[in-house]
Amino acid sequence: MRMLLWLLVFCSLGLRVWVTTIVSRTEWGARSLACRDQLNPPVAYVIMDQLRGMECQEQNICSQRLRSLQSHSVYTKGWCDVAYNFLIGDDGRVYEGVGWNVQGVHTQGYNNISLGIAFFGNKIGGSPSPVALSAAENLISYAIQKGHLSPRYIQPLLLKEDGCLASRQPVMSRKACPNIISRSVWEARETHCPEMNLPAKYVIIIHTADRTCNVSVDCHIHIRDIQSFHMDTQHFCDIGYHFLVGQDGGVYEGVGWHIQGSHTYGYNDIALGIAFIGNFVGTPPNAAALEAAQNLIQCAEDKGYLIPNYLLVGHSDIVNTLSPGQALYNIIKAWPHFKH
Ligand SMILES: *[C@@H]1O[C@H](CO)[C@@H](O)[C@H](O)[C@H]1NC(C)=O
Ligand SMILES: *[C@@H]1O[C@H](CO)[C@@H](O)[C@H](O)[C@H]1NC(C)=O
Repeated sequence: MRMLLWLLVFCSLGLRVWVTTIVSRTEWGARSLACRDQLNPPVAYVIMDQLRGMECQEQNICSQRLRSLQSHSVYTKGWCDVAYNFLIGDDGRVYEGVGWNVQGVHTQGYNNISLGIAFFGNKIGGSPSPVALSAAENLISYAIQKGHLSPRYIQPLLLKEDGCLASRQPVMSRKACPNIISRSVWEARETHCPEMNLPAKYVIIIHTADRTCNVSVDCHIHIRDIQSFHMDTQHFCDIGYHFLVGQDGGVYEGVGWHIQGSHTYGYNDIALGIAFIGNFVGTPPNAAALEAAQNLIQCAEDKGYLIPNYLLVGHSDIVNTLSPGQALYNIIKAWPHFKH
């Protein structure tokens, strides 16, 4: 097999020299490129992704994996080519996807302003190899050097589905938004708090870690208590959560869609904090509560309060806490957009 490696040698600030090997489309045996939408360099974003189920350690096997990925992308997905601008094998080689000048189809809303780079070839569940990671770093430096990427580029943390070989999650049927029990119903105190940055990028699932409530009058009293505790003891601006869900299956407005929460430092203006009322370390919430929360999240998505690629995480994924409780955490792991 002809191994014609395209060596990129370059200097950054005249101090370091990196060498990145790019395996061209011709070398990995790609069919011809049908993507036409051009990228306007320098782009401002890098989107990183990881593809599973494509284990390979050598160029000829990795090339074979890419050829099946390309066929799958074109014939099954109906895309113009592989979704990414570049793909990085676990062998540490960079494989040309749609390349520098053409838009990929990796991330809705970002394709025309980003370079999409995907790792592949590692064992399922494993991280990319050190050589693959350093190849990615070099590729990014090279992209900046050559004016393909802004030096002040942003790498947003987005949910990435394993879009390619794995089948997509079925589209959930759209249900009506749940009835949200408003602040006036539970007799909230009036507050004036900072506004939320909508659409939110994350959903954070929390538990209140105290008693639960299963009839609405109890839930009202309980939520008033939580608000007082958060405002008077914790000195939050208002109740900390955007919404609360009771074991009565009720969705209660906390600060609601438009106001920042106080649930997770650093995330309060970009994440919707949804709290299950109760302690779910040992026993999960009941079906009514789980369904209510899922409907609320679907509703947020339908109404545009969440970005399409939002991530769903447990409170404990971000903060050192038991919340949302192991029993509940085990359930949300299977929910759409859960970030592993
Ligand atoms: C990218 O596409 C969006 C939606 O089609 C458009 O609004 C935006 O202006 C485009 N940006 C660039 C830099 O082409
Ligand atoms: C509500 O919870 C109480 C105390 O745990 C329980 O005795 C009662 O049966 C529950 N009521 C409903 C309607 O589930």
